[in-house]
Amino acid sequence: MITTYVAVTLIALILMSAYNVGILSENLYQEETMRLYAKANIISQSMTSAWNVADEREMIWRGQDVTGRILGGTNIRGVITDNSYTVLYDTNSDTDMVGKVFMRDVLKRALDGEQAQSEFEADTGKTLTVSVPIEVNDEIVGGVYLAENVSSTADTINAIKASLILFSVLLLFIIVIISIGTSYIITRPITHFISVAKAISKGDFSKRARVDGMREMAEMGQALNFMCDQLNQLEEKRKNFVSDVSHELKTPMAGIKLLCDSLVQAENPDMDTIREFLNDMSEEIDRLTRIINRLLTLSRLDAGQDLAMSDVDISALCNGVVESVRKLAAEKAIELQYIPPEMPTILVCADYDKIYECVYNIVVNAINYTPEYGHVEARVSFGDGKCIIAVEDDGPGIPDEEKQKIFERFYRLDDSRARDTGGTGLGLAITKEAVLLHNGTIEVTDSQTGGSIFTITLPVPELGKE
Ligand SMILES: Nc1ncnc2c1ncn2[C@@H]1O[C@H](COP(=O)(O)OP(=O)(O)O)[C@@H](O)[C@H]1O
Ligand SMILES: [Mg+2]
Repeated sequence: MITTYVAVTLIALILMSAYNVGILSENLYQEETMRLYAKANIISQSMTSAWNVADEREMIWRGQDVTGRILGGTNIRGVITDNSYTVLYDTNSDTDMVGKVFMRDVLKRALDGEQAQSEFEADTGKTLTVSVPIEVNDEIVGGVYLAENVSSTADTINAIKASLILFSVLLLFIIVIISIGTSYIITRPITHFISVAKAISKGDFSKRARVDGMREMAEMGQALNFMCDQLNQLEEKRKNFVSDVSHELKTPMAGIKLLCDSLVQAENPDMDTIREFLNDMSEEIDRLTRIINRLLTLSRLDAGQDLAMSDVDISALCNGVVESVRKLAAEKAIELQYIPPEMPTILVCADYDKIYECVYNIVVNAINYTPEYGHVEARVSFGDGKCIIAVEDDGPGIPDEEKQKIFERFYRLDDSRARDTGGTGLGLAITKEAVLLHNGTIEVTDSQTGGSIFTITLPVPELGKE
């Protein structure tokens, strides 16, 4: 990252500096040349008016006068020649060129009628030259040659170049420092997150990521910690589940073992005793089978097994459940009632067997946990994009703090009572799991008589559209 930063900045800086310095020097030299032209033209015009009307001496005097006025105070050298390159006047008196031939390329081009310019590098530095013709009646009679040493301008440009280079180096230095700083700030938390994630993947859920520093990093840390909490809870649940299963299986096993041992130790047991013991054993085995079957159902639901969806008449389904447990209710003299929906029943897309088991579980619970001569009522209604199945009883009800827990695996309010009813503590867990697979909800509320109302809600999208 640092290398990229530095390379990009370096290229940008070099391009920018080269471009700016180029433009600047070009402008400066061009301006200087223009000024030289202006001066040369004034001198040329002044010489034109004196040409022919004055004698040579006066011409020299005129040349001296005009160059003195125009070039005085500058370091520009001015040379005036006739059209055969013979010098009439030269501001540089040291060289004593007057009367001699002064051959320069620009001057030649001027005498050919052009306004000419050139530049060259002398020992004393860069020099700009311009040359313009002196014309009298459309005839070129001579030329003006000006030369200016622009080494001071070149010095200025060089100074600018030097400061640009210094500035670039400084900027580069700052950028390197900043990028090292930022990459440290960014990579340090990431390295930390990686180490935490590695620890978690090895099963160390006690590790937590730091949630300070940049906002994004803090959020990432929070997300990581949240994930860790969830994993921790899941692991905890898994361990509890395994120990619950072992415990639940151990109880009937112990019962069977006890019955076996008693039979073995009994001396000459009569046939009735043997039958009674075997009967008890059979009941324990039934219990074991029930637990194992329910566990299998649960693990299939957990595995996210596909639902066998079809159009289900929920009203007929509930009626079927109620009829199937009528005998069970009658044994406790419980009044069992099914109330169909007011509107014509609507088909709901669902897995028939799973929903049947859900409704069966809550109706059987209602009968099991309601005392004799109680009332149990199952209702189906439609509305608001939902199909609602409610089972109400006037039993003991469920305390508020237990309302969520009863849906957990192996959770029973009153262990001994629930066991007597043949309960495994898995019915509601299975029911909840199956309802969730249907994208539905299940909840328990208090009924007016102090009993409970279990409500299963299944989504019916077609209903909502109407
Ligand atoms: N209608 C109800 N009235 C009172 N308590 C209930 C009712 N339904 C369920 N429960 C309580 O919730 C617990 C869990 O129910 P469930 O998962 O079906 O297990 P179980 O196999 O014991 O019936 C039951 O043990 C019981 O204590
Ligand atoms: Mg049950």
